[in-house]
Amino acid sequence: MTGLTQATGPAYTRIYAYGAARGENAVPNEDLVGPIDSSDEWIRQRTGIVTRVRADAGTDAIDLATEAAKEAVATAGIDPADVDLVIVATISNPKQTPSVSAIVADRIGANPAAAYDMNAACAGYAYGIAQADALIRAGAARYAVVIGAEKLSDIVDPTDRSISFLLGDGAGAAVVGPSDTPGISPAVWGSDGSKADAVGMNHTLVDFRDGKAPWPTLRQEGPTVFRWAVWEMVKVAREALEKAGVEASDLAAFIPHQANMRIVDEFAKQLKLPESTVIARDIETTGNTSAASIPLASHRLMQEHPELSGGLALQIGFGAGLVFAAQVVVLP
Ligand SMILES: CC(C)(COP(=O)(O)OP(=O)(O)OC[C@H]1O[C@@H](n2cnc3c(N)ncnc32)[C@H](O)[C@@H]1OP(=O)(O)O)[C@@H](O)C(=O)NCCC(=O)NCCS
Repeated sequence: MTGLTQATGPAYTRIYAYGAARGENAVPNEDLVGPIDSSDEWIRQRTGIVTRVRADAGTDAIDLATEAAKEAVATAGIDPADVDLVIVATISNPKQTPSVSAIVADRIGANPAAAYDMNAACAGYAYGIAQADALIRAGAARYAVVIGAEKLSDIVDPTDRSISFLLGDGAGAAVVGPSDTPGISPAVWGSDGSKADAVGMNHTLVDFRDGKAPWPTLRQEGPTVFRWAVWEMVKVAREALEKAGVEASDLAAFIPHQANMRIVDEFAKQLKLPESTVIARDIETTGNTSAASIPLASHRLMQEHPELSGGLALQIGFGAGLVFAAQVVVLP
């Protein structure tokens, strides 16, 4: 024995509340179709998107994250000073360092909380929930704010017809803390770096600096990602239900990453979700906001269906890496 102290924490955790901040502007399909030789009809049919939100030039991911986090903490009814962990999932902060999370922690009154940014693309928020749950139960933190924050419009090429019409700007946040009963199931998470080329940035900043490439933007092999999402992610979703010890018929809500409405519909069909399960369809008016998409969709769902409070929701994120994460949560 060394006399060394090692921490343990509470047995269970849960989500206390959500917060949301969407880009100020609703951008309809018509505004984007010119440079990609597309149409409002094509985008609606292939993706379910009617408008997406995009932020003003003067608004950045830090502003969006701060607004979302403030709402989540206020709704949770905890003192911001009690937040001792801030995790921000993002792929679009144009500054490599300092992190978004440290600045947000300070702005919301949680200074000196532990704070770090994390890149797991569209799975980032679900990764963050898995981390917050594990860290709190390990005694490394007590109250965590997990935020997905993106200003994707800064890394979009308006002439790229593989992706430009999908992306939006926003931030969603969740407060995670101790619980008397189980509120976050074990995550099924992982990666497949052999498919790293399927979606991601098209150039490096070094190539840009050296004049060898234009400003780096997101691009994807749409059909490859689509097939992977529909076939492989349904298996991950089923495994998450199994690990949680629940059936699809137990779900009050299903909150998948808002990548494409056709992917959402295909998931729902393959999982054989009952009519009673409410399915998040935030993509229609928000677009795909990567790490922010699940918490934004969760926030909207709870606003439109407050009766879901206390029910079970399956959430699943997947994207560039490729990476994925899914878990079942009790809705706040
Ligand atoms: C991007 C996506 C909407 C494209 O839809 P799709 O049905 O796969 O479309 P395809 O690329 O197979 O192209 C089908 C046709 O539409 C055309 N097309 C492709 N992009 C187009 C666009 N933006 N506008 C108009 N037509 C387009 C193609 O040229 C093709 O025409 P053809 O049939 O005459 O050859 C879809 O693949 C998708 O959503 N993928 C997954 C996205 C995702 O989950 N990303 C995760 C990272 S966040």
